[in-house]
Amino acid sequence: MAAINSNFLKLKAGYLFPEIARRVKAYSEANPAMAPRIIRCGIGDVTEPLPPAVVNAMHEGVEEMANRETFKGYGPEQGYEFLRQAIVDHQFAGLGISADEIFVSDGSKCDTGNILDIFGKGNVIAITDPVYPVYVDTNVMAGNTGAADDKGAYAGLLYLPCNAENGFVAAVPETKADLIYLCFPNNPTGAVATRAQLEAWVRYARETDAIILFDAAYEAFIQDPAIPHSIFEIEGARDCAIEFRSFSKNGGFTGVRCAYVVIPKTVTGQAEDGSRVPLHQLWSRRHSTKFNGASYPVQKAAAAVFSEQGKQEVAALIGHYMGNATLLREACTELGLPVFGGENAPYVWVGCPAGLSSWDMFDKMLNEAQVVITPGSGFGSAGEGYFRISAFNSRENVREVCRRLKALVA
Ligand code: MLT
Repeated sequence: MAAINSNFLKLKAGYLFPEIARRVKAYSEANPAMAPRIIRCGIGDVTEPLPPAVVNAMHEGVEEMANRETFKGYGPEQGYEFLRQAIVDHQFAGLGISADEIFVSDGSKCDTGNILDIFGKGNVIAITDPVYPVYVDTNVMAGNTGAADDKGAYAGLLYLPCNAENGFVAAVPETKADLIYLCFPNNPTGAVATRAQLEAWVRYARETDAIILFDAAYEAFIQDPAIPHSIFEIEGARDCAIEFRSFSKNGGFTGVRCAYVVIPKTVTGQAEDGSRVPLHQLWSRRHSTKFNGASYPVQKAAAAVFSEQGKQEVAALIGHYMGNATLLREACTELGLPVFGGENAPYVWVGCPAGLSSWDMFDKMLNEAQVVITPGSGFGSAGEGYFRISAFNSRENVREVCRRLKALVA
């Protein structure tokens, strides 16, 4: 008999996005005539093709693999030096991060989940609410929580409510946390944290000996020059933070897969005997044991994001998606709905029309307008009464979504 990890049995129904896909499929099968009209603004998946600089680099990588002289087998698990160095030069210049503190991977979803491998039991885990569900579910799987209540909140997690009053940026808690998940620009609310707010978090982490897990997958969408892109822009963060970055949303790599984790060698945790151990050392060991590196053509392609041509093309992509976000914000504002985000992030976070819950709004949008959104309550109980619209789409589709929203809600 093989015993299972019973923590999985505590998980609530399905993971949010497969659950949405299931409902959309059911609707399409029941209403085949309407299916072609469906516009998907649910999952934050890019729609525009890869930048030409990326495509050319990937072709070159494939060509190298096709020739005996340039063929490559296993690469370094932590990533090729050319990519790690390009990341440092173009994303962390002047922030004291070195190439061997970068760990290239195949995605931030995996990284933010896998990071729990290096932490022990009994940590107090602080999670904002609403939140990217991966942080919660991976802690449930790891046995770091009790059961969920009827609102989906798990016993044992320290929830930090984010709401219109605090601008969807959680204040530091009154009590002690050991691991803190922060995501800025935020998924799902599109909120950004100011330098002062991040300074408060770093101060808290240093004073209480906590670790900040900082998800910066959407940093490329920041338009306001005063907003930090990296937690390492904050003094002291090198002692208490790990950062997650991705090529998914800037370079359009959701289907290509490439991301990285930044772990300064100065961040430590405590072993059972009370000694301090660098988290870098643990993650390096974990990465080499459980991962064999992102593929060579993919890493070549990722490095091309930082070429002059690549930077221009990525800026154009970001401009396109942020143009969509502006249109969506305007349409929802015109309808008199409370609108957040969408200014430094590709997500617009909107209050539901009076009397509708998040899932009511999801169903109404799907059934009456054939538009897929994400119900705010799917990100946590504090998301109830909100819905998220993803700005990842063609301009034509976004204009059509705005028209349908106005017809539906007005
Ligand atoms: C989202 O829609 O929240 C994102 O696409 C999820 C992800 O990046 O995994």
